Amino acid sequence: MSSQGNRSRLETTGFADAVNGRASVRKYAPDPVRREDVEAMVGIAVRAANAGNAQMWRFIAVEDEGLRAAMRQAVDEAIDEMAAWPEAEGLEKELASYRTYATFFGQAPLVLAVVARPYKSLADDLLDRRGLSREDHDRLRQRPDLQSLGAAIQLLCTAAHVLGYGTCWMTAPVIAAPAIETLLGVEPPDQLAAVVPVGRPLTPPRPSSRRPLPDVLEFR
Ligand SMILES: Cc1cc2nc3c(=O)[nH]c(=O)nc-3n(C[C@H](O)[C@H](O)[C@H](O)COP(=O)(O)O)c2cc1C
Repeated sequence: MSSQGNRSRLETTGFADAVNGRASVRKYAPDPVRREDVEAMVGIAVRAANAGNAQMWRFIAVEDEGLRAAMRQAVDEAIDEMAAWPEAEGLEKELASYRTYATFFGQAPLVLAVVARPYKSLADDLLDRRGLSREDHDRLRQRPDLQSLGAAIQLLCTAAHVLGYGTCWMTAPVIAAPAIETLLGVEPPDQLAAVVPVGRPLTPPRPSSRRPLPDVLEFR
């Protein structure tokens, strides 16, 4: 097939619209998110490529308002704690915007907590046995577990968009991981990796710009 033909296939199948139309949404209508829609989104998310097909993810769909409020409160408290550090002196304005960036998920009618389960390939195991530092280990492995979760989260957000929901992939709330894990009953070695609020967007999603392809793509 010609490259033009291939490109139009991305359009005629709706794939380009699904991907290009998604944008992070940070304001949601209060309408509940239907469970069957959550199942559909997560059903697409788990189709993601993942290291060793280990499927080292778990999704906790938090519908309960009190629990969502408690998660938000945990993030507020973690940021209060940071704000009290001497290292934070003079950063009051930045921390105020960071608080907004990290806590708006509490207004969404549904919050998905994405949990990472431990994953170790043979190479990870050998590098550990060899006694490499975490930094040297990561230099040679680049966290296949988190890459796999990222692939799933992107699919989840794109599927949610196709279903008419807005989402925002968030890692800022992970600053309160220990407290949120306790609230959700997530126990070690599982860890909170990201939070994805889901709800009908209050205003249509506005896709942000991207750098031109020649800036990011090279052929050799
Ligand atoms: C790993 C990751 C972490 C992110 N964390 C946050 C976050 O904590 N809060 C937030 O408002 N947006 C967060 N975002 C959303 C980005 O700001 C957003 O994807 C980026 O600005 C591009 O905009 P778009 O999603 O609308 O295309 C995160 C995105 C990624 C991929």
